[in-house]
Amino acid sequence: MVVGSVLVTGGTGYIGSFTALALLEADYKVVIVDNLYNSSQEVLRRIELISGKKAHYHTCDITDEAALDAVFAAHPDIDNVIHFAALKAVGESGERPLDYYNVNVFGSLCLLRAMKKHHVTNIVFSSSATVYGDATRFPNMIPIPEECPLGPTNPYGNTKVTVEMMITDHVNAERANAKKAGKSGEEFNAALLRYFNPAGSHPSGIMGEDPQGVPYNLLPLLAQVAVGKREKLLVFGDDYASKDGTAIRDYIHILDLAAGHLIALNYLRANHPGVRAWNLGTGKGSTVFEMVAAFSKAVGRDLPYQVVGRRAGDVLDLTANPTRANTELGWKAHRTLEDACADLWRWTENNPQGYRQEPPKAFLEA
Ligand code: NAD
Ligand code: WQD
Repeated sequence: MVVGSVLVTGGTGYIGSFTALALLEADYKVVIVDNLYNSSQEVLRRIELISGKKAHYHTCDITDEAALDAVFAAHPDIDNVIHFAALKAVGESGERPLDYYNVNVFGSLCLLRAMKKHHVTNIVFSSSATVYGDATRFPNMIPIPEECPLGPTNPYGNTKVTVEMMITDHVNAERANAKKAGKSGEEFNAALLRYFNPAGSHPSGIMGEDPQGVPYNLLPLLAQVAVGKREKLLVFGDDYASKDGTAIRDYIHILDLAAGHLIALNYLRANHPGVRAWNLGTGKGSTVFEMVAAFSKAVGRDLPYQVVGRRAGDVLDLTANPTRANTELGWKAHRTLEDACADLWRWTENNPQGYRQEPPKAFLEA
């Protein structure tokens, strides 16, 4: 029995693909749109191998409103959207901000317009801890609660705050318009999910992060060191005010993050909260050195690194206070850093070419 129908933008990407899997496993119909800018269709096969279920897929650019319109028209049962499609490289966003505004902001505008036209009223949006900027400027706000004032420090973060505002204005206006017309308007809802640092892969070893081009996040870079694609990890600064001098982040297992989307969507459908922001993080910070040690342990040998200067724009501590999601949504991150590292290593070893290869033979034969 299908419990509902979800359009997942960016659904062949890292977080989108794991969320599509979680939705299928929870008996949602899933319709993915993606332009494959940073992903590949092979992931659709992996999702099917794990879940035994198929997602519908359309190659579609979210800045093409007519193309989105056609997807909604082809699936009139879509009643929810989870919106991942975006450009996400912080450094690059400073070099070509207009591309970031085009995809992230204009693309979201096209999506909201198409949703309005097709009377789709629930949206879960991929926001980011980056909206808080340097939260250490408020010492009583570490770990970071949702009430922390927003203050993004790069164009990517600016696009995320802009889209949060656009969704908020849209949902509030639709609710008010419905009320004026004598209706409840409570069907209009949005979850703004601010995630911290996603980590890890599927325990089966056949689904994981497969960035096209050069990765810039810590764990994918460490994985490249482990397989010899990279000589060593460059540690960006050991002069922070942390226990070992390296910066602190909140690494959340991708399966816990994906589950958070499913739970947030179910919450919107059952509780009609209007617009609400939730942090998705573990509440536990880890330093870069702790991450190097944890991943080295999963690999079974020490991985080489060299301390270099701080990376521009980095901050000491980005750890979530996830209390709101814990209490309101009943969601909690259950998996450990050790799980994330072990799963990432299994994925890396089994799929040296990522999704540009057949699924590992051992899995197909099992
Ligand atoms: P990803 O790059 O793996 O996934 C994004 C997907 O969107 C890709 O499949 C890409 O091909 C697609 N896409 C890009 N431009 C598109 C367009 N114009 N039309 C249609 N599809 C398009 O990234 P991810 O890590 O899975 O991130 C998903 C979302 O989560 C993004 O909105 C990102 O900003 C946000 N986010 C990511 C992180 C992180 O560290 N990975 C942290 C916080 C928030
Ligand atoms: C983690 C830690 C680095 C690489 C980014 C975005 C954020 C969100 C998640 C999208 C930091 C250190 C890293 C390396 C290192 N994305 N590091 N050597 O910067 O916390 O967050 O991704 O919304 O918005 O900013 O993640 O993985 O790049 O870095 O020492 O080669 O690892 O300094 O302390 P970050 P990251």
